[in-house]
Amino acid sequence: MTASTAAREQFAASYGREPEGIWSAPGRVNLIGEHTDYNEGYVLPFAIQHRTCAAVALNGTDDIRVESTFSDSQVVAHLSDLDGLFPTPAGETPAVPEWSAYVLGIAWALRMLRPDAPAPGVDIAIASDVPVGAGLSSSAAIEGSVASALNELWDLGLDPVTLAQVGRKAENEAVGAPTGIMDQMASMLGQPDAATFLDCRTLETRSIPTGFTAAHLELLVIDTRVSHAHSTGGYRERRESCERGAELLGIRALRDAGIDDLPRAAELMDDVTFRRVRHILTENQRVLDTVDALTAQGPRAIGDLLVASHASMRDDFEISAVELDVAVDTALAAGAIGARMTGGGFGGSAIALVEHDAVERVTDAVERAFADAGFTAPHIFPVSPSAGPRRDA
Ligand code: GLA
Repeated sequence: MTASTAAREQFAASYGREPEGIWSAPGRVNLIGEHTDYNEGYVLPFAIQHRTCAAVALNGTDDIRVESTFSDSQVVAHLSDLDGLFPTPAGETPAVPEWSAYVLGIAWALRMLRPDAPAPGVDIAIASDVPVGAGLSSSAAIEGSVASALNELWDLGLDPVTLAQVGRKAENEAVGAPTGIMDQMASMLGQPDAATFLDCRTLETRSIPTGFTAAHLELLVIDTRVSHAHSTGGYRERRESCERGAELLGIRALRDAGIDDLPRAAELMDDVTFRRVRHILTENQRVLDTVDALTAQGPRAIGDLLVASHASMRDDFEISAVELDVAVDTALAAGAIGARMTGGGFGGSAIALVEHDAVERVTDAVERAFADAGFTAPHIFPVSPSAGPRRDA
């Protein structure tokens, strides 16, 4: 069953009528540029074919009611009471079930942005085929689908970049995950056949054709099934190290330093902070180099950059996991052109760029390596650049 049908059926079963419409938004993979977004640097993600759907209708009350296929409970809130629920204090969990905080958080953030616009009550049912906890931004896909629905039903007329910022606010302040803007921008600005080169400081974007199809290449996702959470622990710590590094360098954000600043950084900070900083400075450069390579030479030229990015995350930023390393090493040994972990790390997915003819060989090799190591079997599937949010029905 498609996510769209599942959302419609969930809506009908929960609310006893048909939705007014179904809006969807995609998940994403990041080709390169990890943890650079909250350092105001560069990223190169693309939206994938997996989508989250929100079936929505006005309900004639002042309540927002939320259902989903991944929870048995219905969450209900008075729209005017959302201010009492959010923001979630830093380091704490939301006062509502976490999955519903993404949805309620969007309504809250939209009302903050447009306090004078009428915001009538809505019924919402969510279904998704973006794997959760796989590092493919299932959360940005929820945010994008709900933001698109409310933007239309509440007649707000907001553009995609503003809706991405609304999504980030929901994620940071309602869910309490201290993430950057990459996922929401990647989802909101998705387009077939191209990745989105994003400057996370200015939010300027450039569409970069990947050229995978013409070159007979596939981008495989290897979901390790090791699930991660960004509202906790390691992600927040990495962010704090980056902020400390920027402060020691006397700059607003690590974006303002380059490779030439590394010797100075080495003198100013402890070894761990230095290695965190080195990852960000070199990763920003790798994003720029990847854009150049894709544009000038095509996708076969980006393999080494993907591999260097993975090594930097494994050794300097220390956000990989043994399953991700096995996935990357095995894919490369089986002939992948490049491979790296993607997303926030500590689990989730790796990507591997492979010749169309080598998909089976790489897939078999990774499955075998996981079985030999006693890991849970991975999910391996191809992804391709896909369109951003849309109204499906
Ligand atoms: C998660 C966050 C993003 C970004 C990546 C790492 O996906 O949501 O904002 O920081 O991790 O690149």
